[in-house]
Amino acid sequence: MLNVDIDRLIAELDRLAHMSDAEAPAVTRVLYTQPDMRARAMLKEMCTAAGLQVREDAVGNLFARWLGREPNLPAVGTGSHTDAIPYSGRYDGTVGVLGGLEAIRTLQAAGFSPKRSIELLMFTSEEPTRFGIGCVGCRLMSGAIEPAACAELRDSAGARFDDVRLAAGFTGTLASARLGSDYYSAFVELHIEQGPILEDKNLAIGAVTAIAAPAALRVELTGSGGHAGAVLMPIRRDALCAAAEIVLAVEAAAKESGSPDTVGTVGICDVHPGAINSVPSEVNLTIDIRDVAPGPRDGAVERTRQVIDTVCAKRGVAAEIETIHSDPPAAMAEHVVRAVEQAAVAAGASCIRMVSRAYHDSLFMARIAPTGMIFIPCYKGYSHRPDEYSSPGAIKTGVEVLARTLRELSEA
Ligand code: GLV
Ligand code: MN
Ligand code: MN
Repeated sequence: MLNVDIDRLIAELDRLAHMSDAEAPAVTRVLYTQPDMRARAMLKEMCTAAGLQVREDAVGNLFARWLGREPNLPAVGTGSHTDAIPYSGRYDGTVGVLGGLEAIRTLQAAGFSPKRSIELLMFTSEEPTRFGIGCVGCRLMSGAIEPAACAELRDSAGARFDDVRLAAGFTGTLASARLGSDYYSAFVELHIEQGPILEDKNLAIGAVTAIAAPAALRVELTGSGGHAGAVLMPIRRDALCAAAEIVLAVEAAAKESGSPDTVGTVGICDVHPGAINSVPSEVNLTIDIRDVAPGPRDGAVERTRQVIDTVCAKRGVAAEIETIHSDPPAAMAEHVVRAVEQAAVAAGASCIRMVSRAYHDSLFMARIAPTGMIFIPCYKGYSHRPDEYSSPGAIKTGVEVLARTLRELSEA
């Protein structure tokens, strides 16, 4: 019998949700800001209270280990992130971290003693908010970003990643965050689905088989500014007009990729000088394009690049395009997917196999460990918005399935 203490977990999720720079119900918790540091402190305290051995690496990836009977064997990992994009919700990532801890406490309470150690992770900066690229901590762990390139990432105020993490109290070389492929025997992440399928089909669990391929570009457009009343239309080189055409081109490239799974988003559009009576001279855009298959994704990226060239040539606007990342999709390990399915059966929970359209730290954990993910339903599939919601019942089932999966994998 496994008894998940769902009331305790919901109270902890609530406490975490209030560590935020946005007013409730919205959550904003950005890397190394005060709410992020408070969340880290809370998690360390809770893990220590659960008897776990806590350590942090050079960027603040947090590891909390429940020592197994054979502590020298590769461990089984679980976890997710607690950072939250501006004005988002309280469940994205947090359910996998606090739910992961609850799964461990549930197994402890049941008197289980694992053969392999079970380790909870809280990954640093899964969200790209501060340094423009997601999964920074896990990319370092898995070798998906070079330490030297990571050190030079800049936030919007121009601060270097390496300086900011040192100022936050995280020392050691960035290279030391790298984990070998013998560190974990398996990794499994619990997460809200962030899509509507489980709720629509009235299913409790999604056993993730693959994670979609994300790509992101940064585009700097430089035209010519001037007085909004005085610069006549034939001689304008308005950077925002070029940006407007590019935004619609991203939408068209995604819609016309030939794949129903291609999605394209311009989420940031910064206009300079940003005055009502001034022609925009500079615009910075970010473009996010994804698909479950890299082919149509790359096709849409290429089409977008072509349109940027054409639009900018026509308008006399200069464009600098930087690829922020272009990651391949990741396949989950069949034996971990099966362990999740079997755990769902044992918990009496309905389950289907599905792909993840959002990215997760598991996209990169899959490079160094056999990896799987457990999805639970969320209201209307809403995520990255304040009304993101998963019911206590859905979370409880997810934690029980995670606990059973960890139990199975830790004995293997
Ligand atoms: C993660 O938050 C993503 O953007 O998929
Ligand atoms: Mn997210
Ligand atoms: Mn997430």
